[in-house]
Amino acid sequence: MARRSAEALAINGGAKAVTSLECKDVPKIGIEEFIELADTFGFSEEAKAAIRAVIEKENVPSPMLSRYYNPRPSKVKMLEELAMQLFDVPYVLAVNSGTSALNTAYVAAGIGPGCEVIVPGYTFFATVAEVVTAGAIPVIAEIDESLTIDPADVERKITPHTKAIVPVHMIGTCADMDAIMAIARKHGLLVIEDAAQACGASYKGRRVGTIGDFGCFSISSYKITGGGEAGLVMTHDPYLYTRAQNNHDTGACWRPDRYAKEREAGELFCGYNYKLSELEGSVNLVQLRKMPDQVRRWQKTKRQITRQLRHFAGITPQQVRDPDGEVGNHLVFFAPDAQAAEKTAAALAAEGVGASTRGCKSARDWHLYAFWEHILERKSATPAGCPWSCEKNAGLGQDYSPDMCPRTLDILSRAVFIGINQWWTERDCDQIAGAINKVLEAYYEPLDGEIGW
Ligand SMILES: Cc1ncc(COP(=O)(O)O)c(C=O)c1O
Repeated sequence: MARRSAEALAINGGAKAVTSLECKDVPKIGIEEFIELADTFGFSEEAKAAIRAVIEKENVPSPMLSRYYNPRPSKVKMLEELAMQLFDVPYVLAVNSGTSALNTAYVAAGIGPGCEVIVPGYTFFATVAEVVTAGAIPVIAEIDESLTIDPADVERKITPHTKAIVPVHMIGTCADMDAIMAIARKHGLLVIEDAAQACGASYKGRRVGTIGDFGCFSISSYKITGGGEAGLVMTHDPYLYTRAQNNHDTGACWRPDRYAKEREAGELFCGYNYKLSELEGSVNLVQLRKMPDQVRRWQKTKRQITRQLRHFAGITPQQVRDPDGEVGNHLVFFAPDAQAAEKTAAALAAEGVGASTRGCKSARDWHLYAFWEHILERKSATPAGCPWSCEKNAGLGQDYSPDMCPRTLDILSRAVFIGINQWWTERDCDQIAGAINKVLEAYYEPLDGEIGW
């Protein structure tokens, strides 16, 4: 076959081989995805047909569902900016779950082999699991009657290997941050707040999650605020923020130039992909806007109940570190023993109050350390046994056992939990308070004194 002359090439001024293509470009993402979303939200066939009829009229180009290269303002970025404003913190990184928020904060803080991290014995397992996935060794501390980590036990458990303390703000209340920050400063430790269950709570005027070196939030649909699966990482430190950004984006982070060389030691390292999608970002942007009103409603509802409660011998209300700052989505009190707690919760349920207990039941519960066999038995994803077998971790940690935190087991076994609905009316609250007083009066000796917890 005769060779064509190079002069015929379009690059050299010849005619183009491809002039126009006949195909009709169909947006890769568009109408069908929108209808699928309508289905997720539970719209009827009739409603979906109506939605389809409207959106088919508009020829919308494929949207970018990632924050990068998005022609429209990124919803994830807007979510981060909203959080910066609501939490009064300069750096917020949106990620795809509370678990990835924790992993990101731990890795960014430099937690890894050779480090011990002190966590409470009562928290969702993610708080401790991510210490292990980061390559470090968790040390489990007792809780106190606030249901959060006991600062005195934290101090007892500090060793030369301790790198960080993780206070967890459980069920809308806050940990004793003054005591924890003082201990951390005294021993030169980092504080990483797990605020997954307390989005919007504050401690002495500051939102929880903004007091320590890092704050980690879950804003997944089963949390106080949120929808879908999502998380937030907050910090005041630009260097920690850059490292967090690096961890959440495979190590290819924008600083602000994605392809720049490392500007500072520790800026670039291999990470994960924990990015939040624009779809989840848009849902959570709407959700987070509701947070201040939600918290106000819950606080008002809880107060309307607690102001009517009477005092009884043997019944102790949960120690709330900042009554004006807690979210107020739970009312907890302690009975004299586990059996009394079970009996009281059953009587409350019979009266129509959703009450529960945990701890003395045989049912497994990932919130209680005694069931964390992954930790107690030092389980590993591979036969090599890392991070437990890692040379840098030799001699670290404690002798794990199901009864190593007896105070935590005792406190939880006696706790009666009542979930509060932010939408209860004043009459609903009066009925709930009446039912609690009725049950407590039947089983416990009323104490003289002021009414109101
Ligand atoms: C205290 C605590 N930390 C972390 C998490 C993990 O959050 P996510 O489920 O969004 O990964 C949870 C979730 O239940 C939690 O309760």
